[in-house]
Amino acid sequence: MSDPTAISRAWPAPATGPLTDPELAALYGRADRPHLRVNFVASADGAVTLDGYSAGLSGEPDKRVFGLLRMLCDGLVVAAGTLRHEGYRAVRLSEPRRAWRREQGLAEYPTLVVVSGSLDLDPAQAAFADAPVRPVVLTRAAAEPPPGLSAVADLVRCGDDRVDLAAGLAELRRRGLDQVLCEGGPQLFGALIAADLVDELCLTVAPLLAGAGPGRITAGDASEPRSLPLRHVLTAADGTLMLRYARDDDRPPAGAAPAA
Ligand SMILES: NC(=O)c1ccc[n+]([C@@H]2O[C@H](COP(=O)([O-])OP(=O)(O)OC[C@H]3O[C@@H](n4cnc5c(N)ncnc54)[C@H](OP(=O)(O)O)[C@@H]3O)[C@@H](O)[C@H]2O)c1
Repeated sequence: MSDPTAISRAWPAPATGPLTDPELAALYGRADRPHLRVNFVASADGAVTLDGYSAGLSGEPDKRVFGLLRMLCDGLVVAAGTLRHEGYRAVRLSEPRRAWRREQGLAEYPTLVVVSGSLDLDPAQAAFADAPVRPVVLTRAAAEPPPGLSAVADLVRCGDDRVDLAAGLAELRRRGLDQVLCEGGPQLFGALIAADLVDELCLTVAPLLAGAGPGRITAGDASEPRSLPLRHVLTAADGTLMLRYARDDDRPPAGAAPAA
């Protein structure tokens, strides 16, 4: 196998020389408290898709970090729209990554968590049918599951008319899924921002202009702007930028019980 495209740190503390996978994993890390990390790739002019999919934006450096972020999480959250459109498969990790998880005392695979208000989901989709760990579906009280869905996933009803995302995250934490990675899509990200649940954004900027047409990484109802400090800038030799923004560590996690 050829060497991966070199990724180095540009900020803070520029470090020349390619980062290894363990060094990259350490730069992203696992938080010491319940944490919601969101990961997206966008074009330099802000598009969330190319020809309708994220694949055209995601080069090898992005795929590498994407895989490492999966290795680091307990729960992998995806909106039903992205699951359906991108044809999500079962979450798989290479043996070295599973070994890393075992060494850390983690489950061998993260749990896939799907957010769906309608439950318009196909139990035969590989994401459910071939899952190494039974997935969780966060939905609302009145949603009617299609035949077979309950056999392949745990349905968690949080919220009456709409999925209450804060309650859903609290349920994931109750199940021991503290480190949550959300892979989108834009409507779910918009709703998570509106509910002030986002602790971190990992954003890959692909070195290309998509032009007008595609949406942004957020969609849905407007919400108030929130500050999110920049934590690192990584650059890949092909011009890809990998940015990590995260809340201040001393801030109480969203959804945490108020101090007595
Ligand atoms: N560039 C990237 O990194 C990236 C990442 C992910 C996705 N994408 C792209 O984004 C596009 C998909 O976007 P999308 O508009 O379908 O948005 P989305 O957020 O992926 O999915 C929207 C659907 O997910 C469920 N959902 C999302 N938020 C919810 C909430 N708060 N409560 C209840 N259900 C919620 C609903 O499913 P139900 O209809 O089942 O109720 C809703 O219709 C695709 O083109 C995909 O390629 C790009």
